[in-house]
Order: sequence, then C-alpha cells, then structure tokens
Amino acid sequence: MCGIVGIIGKAEVAPLLFDGLKRLEYRGYDSAGIATLKDGRIDRRRAEGKLGNLGAVLQAQPLAGTIGIGHTRWATHGRPSENNAHPHATDKVAIVHNGIIENFQELRDELGSLGKKFTTDTDTEVVAHLLTHYVEHGHSPEQAMERAMGRLHGAFSLAILFADRPDIIVGARRGSPLAIGFGDGEMFLGSDAMALAPFTNRICYLEEDDWAVLSMDGATIYNDGRRVNREIVQTALSGALIGKGNHRHFMMKEIAEQPTVIGDTLQAFMNPLERRIQLPDLPVDLAGLSRLTIVACGTASLAGHVAKYWLESVARLPVELDVASEFRYRQAPMDPDGALMVISQSGETADTLAALRYAKSLGQKVLAVLNVPESTIGRESDVVLHTLAGPEIGVASTKAFTTQLVLLACFAIAVARARGVIDAAREAELSSALTELPARIAEVLNHDVHIREIALKVAEARDVLFLGRGTSYPIALEGALKLKEISYIHAEGYAAGEMKHGPIALIDENVPVIVVAPSDELFDKTFSNLQEVMARGGRVVFLSDADGIRKLGGQAMAAVELPRVDPFVAPILYTIPVQLLAYHAAVAKGTDVDQPRNLAKSVTVE
Ligand code: AGP
Repeated sequence: MCGIVGIIGKAEVAPLLFDGLKRLEYRGYDSAGIATLKDGRIDRRRAEGKLGNLGAVLQAQPLAGTIGIGHTRWATHGRPSENNAHPHATDKVAIVHNGIIENFQELRDELGSLGKKFTTDTDTEVVAHLLTHYVEHGHSPEQAMERAMGRLHGAFSLAILFADRPDIIVGARRGSPLAIGFGDGEMFLGSDAMALAPFTNRICYLEEDDWAVLSMDGATIYNDGRRVNREIVQTALSGALIGKGNHRHFMMKEIAEQPTVIGDTLQAFMNPLERRIQLPDLPVDLAGLSRLTIVACGTASLAGHVAKYWLESVARLPVELDVASEFRYRQAPMDPDGALMVISQSGETADTLAALRYAKSLGQKVLAVLNVPESTIGRESDVVLHTLAGPEIGVASTKAFTTQLVLLACFAIAVARARGVIDAAREAELSSALTELPARIAEVLNHDVHIREIALKVAEARDVLFLGRGTSYPIALEGALKLKEISYIHAEGYAAGEMKHGPIALIDENVPVIVVAPSDELFDKTFSNLQEVMARGGRVVFLSDADGIRKLGGQAMAAVELPRVDPFVAPILYTIPVQLLAYHAAVAKGTDVDQPRNLAKSVTVE
C-alpha cells in the first residue's frame, strides 16, 4: 500500500522525508515523490521505480524548505509513472494520498466544468483541485478541509501543503490509517509508527473522519466540525533503521528469527514452569462460547485454518472460517453466544477490518490476533492477543505466521481447559510440545543448504503442487502461497485426499509435488496418495520425519527429514521447510524477494 510522510519543523525536510519513505518501502510501491514549500512556492521531485531513483533526482536537483510531504505509491488508479506519482499539486495545494477516492470521476467532471485542467490518470489529483477551488474562493485551509471531508467518498489518508500557509500541514483519515508524531518544535505525519520511528516515538493515531492541522508546536484535531483529543502513545519501535543483519533479504532474516520470536510469544502466553497457558482477560466466556468465527486474509487466514482444526479437535469448539473479502459481503448470521476472531499481521487489512465491523454491528465480541496492537484493527477490537514477532518487513509473511500459530495453539489449549475437555496432564503435554518448538525449528533451519538444493529443482518448474491432510493441509496451502507470491511460479495447495477428484490429472514428470506428511494419524492415508502420485511419474519432495522417510525408501525425488514432534505442533514446524523452499526458489529466479511485484505488505484498500 501507499506510504505517507509529512514534516513541519526547523531543519531542511527533504532528507528527513526521504528517510521516512525508506522505512515505508516494505509496504510495496512502484513510484515515489516529495514536495516542499519555501517562500510561498511548492516544489516537487518524483520518480518511477525504487526510492533510489528518487534519491538520484533529489541529488541532482535538491529541494529546499522546512515543511514538506512525501509518498511511496502503490498504483490503484493510473499506471505506475512519474506523472502519476504523488505528490499531486496545483500552484496552491500539494497532496499525498493513500486509499481510493470512489467518487473521483464525479468530482473530476464537476471541477473540469469549472475549468480545472487535469494532468494525471489518478483519483488523487481531484482532491488537489477541490481544495484549490475552495481556497480560491476565499476559504481558509481549515474551512477547505472541512468542506472536502463532506465531498470525498471512499478510503483515504491525506497529507496536504497549502502554499499560502507555510505554518501548517493538514492531515486527514477515513478508512486508511494516519498517525501524528510529536517532536520538539517539529511535528510529523505518517502512515504508521514505522514511518515516524526515525523522528519520534510519541504518536497518536487519527480516528475515522478525523482531520488535523499540524503546526511546529502541536496539532489540533477535528471531527465533524468539533475539536477532539486523541491519546498520545509511546511506540516500541526503535529509531534505528531496521536492518537485514547479515542476511541478504529481510525474508531470510525473519525466517531465521523464528526460534527467538516464537519463544518470546510463548513466554507471553504460557507459564513454562507450570506448563500452563495464561491468556489475558477475554471479553467472552470460553466455556459458554457456542461458536467461533475466524476471519482473515492470505497467510493470516491459513493460520486461522490450522486453528480451526485445533479448536474443533482439541477444544471441541465449532469454528466457522472464511476469508475476509468473502465474509464481509455474505451477510453471515452469527450466533449470539458466539464471537469473532480476526488475525492480522499489520492490523490494517481493509477486508479484515470490514469483517470486524460487520460482526460488531451484530453485537459480536471481537478477539484480534495482531502483530501491531496499536493498529486500526487493534483499536476497534475488544481484546488484542499480541504476537511478538517484531516488525515484519518482508512482504511475504513468515515469522508473523508462525507466531500466530503458536498463539492460536495456546488459545486452543486454554479453550479446551475452560470447556473441561482436557485435564492438567494433557495441557502440560501440549504445552511441553510448544516449548520444544524453538529448538526443533532451529534444527530444521540447519537443513537450509539441503532445502536450497531441492528449491533449485523446484525453481525450474512451471507448476507445483503442495499436498497435506489435517493440519498439514493449511501448511500445503501456505507453501503454495509463499512459492507463488515470491517466485511467481504457479503453485496450488491441495488436500491430499482430493487428488483423485481431479488434480491428479495434472501429474507428470514436469510437476514437482511437495508432500507435507508428519507421522500422525493421517500419515498412512497421505502415504497412499503419495504412491498414486509417484505411480504417474510425479516428482515428489517428501517432508516427513525419520519414520516417514524410512517407509518411503528412496522413491521420492527428494526428502527433508524433520525432527519427530507431537502432531499438535507439527504444522508449525513443517512451515519452516516450505518457507525455505519458496525463498530459495525465488532467489534462484532473481525475483524481488522482499518486495515481490504487484504485492503490498499491508492491503489497506479492498
Ligand atoms: C502473506 O505472505 C501475504 N503477504 C499476505 O497474504 C498477507 O498474509 C495478507 O495480506 C494479510 O495481511 P495481514 O496479516 O497484515 O492482515
């Protein structure tokens, strides 16, 4: 998604704005730009492609001024180009925007009839002309903004410069997050805390329909014509630019961090000495819960998929699972004694937020599993269960996914205990299996060289299949999602038992089949499916433990031996090899591993 930074202060802002944009690179973008205001004149520098291109332009033609705005664009309306890059400007107003102005065509026609000339294909440009129109007709920036809030439909966060007001920056938020950063004699606007971390860790998030006027010594926030106050919080994010350590990509760094962050997350939800789960107070009675509806997107939804199996098998709790983009529109009836769980790394995914709001409109309590508790979803949920993965920069979600799984495993155990379905001994057993995970995952990471060799073969394929049963089925889906989203190889995850209902027609020597098969009660069933695949020339990559690999003999194209673990935690452990397969295949193909084409880290538009 797009990234926004705004600064009003004492120092030259162009280098600071550029620094802020660098921290937003992880969101994914296709162009970038900066505008500053000096001596009543707005000036812009923009460039297509990566930030380095903008850096070169700024090097050649520096921008002066102590007030400015910056933007990384992820194209929605209008193809990626310098001309469509933000900031968009007239001689009186410059603006950067994240989101979609849904009535932009109507406004474009109306302003066009008033003689406004449009030079881009973007929806954003209409906002610059609309505000200019108000200012030209005698309205102050504050009055112009108030009016514009009433005319704009859709989702937007905005940062705006007004040429005749070098003492203010205006920000606005509707459906797309925007934060205010508080400095000493300088003030900031940013899409999220990450953008502001180089400058301050004192921030407040604007709420729906808030707009704000920032001057050097503070901010005044308005909503529906009234002044409002928003709480200033201290963020945990450090100012140091989050680096890759000694890794080539953020994704590999974050894969390698999993033993640590899984340990951190376990610490937060388990007493390892008593081997007992400890959840924060919840707004629901777990014993009386009739049904849990789990809604999320992408990889987060696959964490919910695994949780569904755990909650139904271990805790005997009925679970409905859906992807947010479907759930938000299908008018699902919801049990009055039920609850909604949303899962999200960013806490800003538009579809997941919309699903939350639908459920809340029906009176459901909302539990949120989030990696960014101060996010919009965090602020609108009844309780946040915080995954301690730390900032995840790679667009492909890795450590966020496995810490979601660990947290959801703890939640499932707590629900089972509350419903009297497991005793203390079984809880201790399951808890022990979880506490061993960091060490087991570290062992699997040691197979990286072997997995890379296999990935080089997979990287040559045009189509790849991932198969699994039970809790290995969502891991097969996750493996396929990882591979396709960073290597651009078409991959499908399938329930192994479904092969004979169609997909087996795909099998030939050109289609690698990754089989996720820990030694559990379904192993023999999966093993039969594997035989069916190999009987048709399929090239199998077999992920199992020593017992499973022994049964297979040397029949597969390749095998990865994982440590034997309690089947309850197997989906978490078996995530590691599918992450590494995708990573190394993508590196072999030379794709942009951390910022794959067309993708964004946080999809804040629907
Ligand atoms: C994961 O690898 C993808 N980048 C994507 O599916 C992601 O999981 C999805 O967009 C949900 O994002 P969220 O967890 O921030 O809500």
